[in-house]
Amino acid sequence: MIEPRDLATPAEGLALARLVTGEIRRIGRHALPDTVLDALAEIADQHRGRDPFLDAFLDAVLARHRDRFRNAGYLALPLLEEILRDTALTAERLSALLLADVVRHENRHPGAVDPALRRKRIRQAMRFVGTVERSPADDAPPPRTLAGDWLELTVLPVSTEHDEYFFIRALQAHELVFTTLTGLVRSATDAVRAGRHDEATALLRRASSVFERASLLFRLVATMRPAAFHAFRRFTEGASAIQSESYKRFELACGEPGPARLDSEAFAGVPAVRAEAGHHDNLARALADGPRSQVLDAAAADLEQAHQRWKTTHHGLAARMLGDATGSGYTAGVPYLAACRENRLMVVRDHAA
Ligand code: HEM
Repeated sequence: MIEPRDLATPAEGLALARLVTGEIRRIGRHALPDTVLDALAEIADQHRGRDPFLDAFLDAVLARHRDRFRNAGYLALPLLEEILRDTALTAERLSALLLADVVRHENRHPGAVDPALRRKRIRQAMRFVGTVERSPADDAPPPRTLAGDWLELTVLPVSTEHDEYFFIRALQAHELVFTTLTGLVRSATDAVRAGRHDEATALLRRASSVFERASLLFRLVATMRPAAFHAFRRFTEGASAIQSESYKRFELACGEPGPARLDSEAFAGVPAVRAEAGHHDNLARALADGPRSQVLDAAAADLEQAHQRWKTTHHGLAARMLGDATGSGYTAGVPYLAACRENRLMVVRDHAA
């Protein structure tokens, strides 16, 4: 066992994380013995503040042990954020690297799934990569830096199910897609306020095309075998995309959700974002305040439609995979998603005027 005093350099922190990741991929996170988790918790406590990658990694590994297992810990999101901070990568480019990694993973395990399904999975992942990379043939390897090395260690499955690997990557990419979308909508809002309608329209059109990437992720996840999904979701209780901060930030960047949504389970799992509600400008408000522009309104309506289609596809996928079961985020599951289809993004509320 590596002792805290051995972790003097970033390379040693990385070595420990590689060991732990290897073991997790061999037996599944849920099967890590308490003795190992206790030792890692001790290392985490003694080492904190010296290596942000290791801190974020251990926080993810120890999330369940510390009774804090949620979406961010399941998907190692703070570690991905650390990697984004340390590299010159954009959220968009990082999402392509994650999907390129899905292709590599499937190629490393050619016999794991039926060949036709594997081809379909690879094709969907490549399509996503192709929407970001100039050359889809590029297999988008991680950068050859310390942060690039950590990127390999951001898949920490709870189970030994082959399909969980690409599921984690798809959900991580989802976070990054919505980070990109929020940036585009905020820039469009600023452009509307400044009267630069052509620029705002172009940004919103780009947002609609980026949204198609979010839909591609559902097509990818549709290649998951339901039995595999049910096998690993036994261990993901408490972690749900309902806790996705980037999705809720996107919602607030677009408009002003009403009290029924803000005070519901939808925002209960994202208290930091809930606290931001009403404190920022948003696209719907900027459009309502400014002079009307048909072209701009049409671009905003297209984005709304893209989101509506996304919710419909999500609902269909969840109905197929989940049936009557409740969601891992403790909602009623499919009925919750069905009700969400009634919500709209581009809404302004009287009280916020
Ligand atoms: C097997 C596939 C999936 C199933 C069965 C599923 C099911 C669900 C359920 C039941 C919820 C409601 C919250 C809860 O109780 O957990 C939910 C929320 C959510 N899911 Fe999924 N999901 C799946 C895949 C995905 C994927 C691939 C993404 C993103 C690419 C995604 C994004 C979201 C988001 C953003 C929410 C929050 C919606 C809101 O806040 O209203 N889901 N999902």
